[in-house]
Amino acid sequence: MKTAIYPGSFDPATNGHLDIIKRASTMFDKLIVVVLINPLKSYSFTIAERRGLLEKATAGMKNIEIDSYDGLLADYFTQRSDVDVIVKGLRATSDFEYEFQMAHTNKDLNPRAETVFIPASANTTFISSSMVKQVAMFGGDLSKYVPAVIHKEISVRLKAEFEEKKRLAVLNQQDL
Ligand code: PNS
Repeated sequence: MKTAIYPGSFDPATNGHLDIIKRASTMFDKLIVVVLINPLKSYSFTIAERRGLLEKATAGMKNIEIDSYDGLLADYFTQRSDVDVIVKGLRATSDFEYEFQMAHTNKDLNPRAETVFIPASANTTFISSSMVKQVAMFGGDLSKYVPAVIHKEISVRLKAEFEEKKRLAVLNQQDL
């Protein structure tokens, strides 16, 4: 039995993530999608919200587990002896350097932690969580970029976040 983990911020999950989840789930017996933290990023959604969105987006997919961890991916890998490999998606060469560095860091921290890369499907190469966030905050249509089942929730939540940001900026007489 081969088990892979697919780590990421998933802030929020997009059709790009779902593309990798669906394809990786056919390559392994089990795929654990793990919500992790990059302490250098600021997130719109809490870990519980990101997990919830992933759970809704993957409902009905049999060999998927959703998990979260507030530590190093290499340590998560160490703790879960059932995990064999890390899966990451690559959208473009611009992803490569960062992903290559992370793959080597993870392997350096835990020599058992091998990473395999899956190229994003052509129709999702331009989709990213940060692009989705910008489109949603300005009221754009997200329906082509995120799974239908979580589309509304993401739009409402991000619009509210942006409205609050604008309200605070006016209050403090600051630019956004
Ligand atoms: O979707 P992202 O933001 O590119 O995912 C990056 C993430 C969260 C997977 C990465 O930052 C991560 O693994 N965070 C946990 C801490 C860690 O192990 N960092 C890698 C060593 S530098």
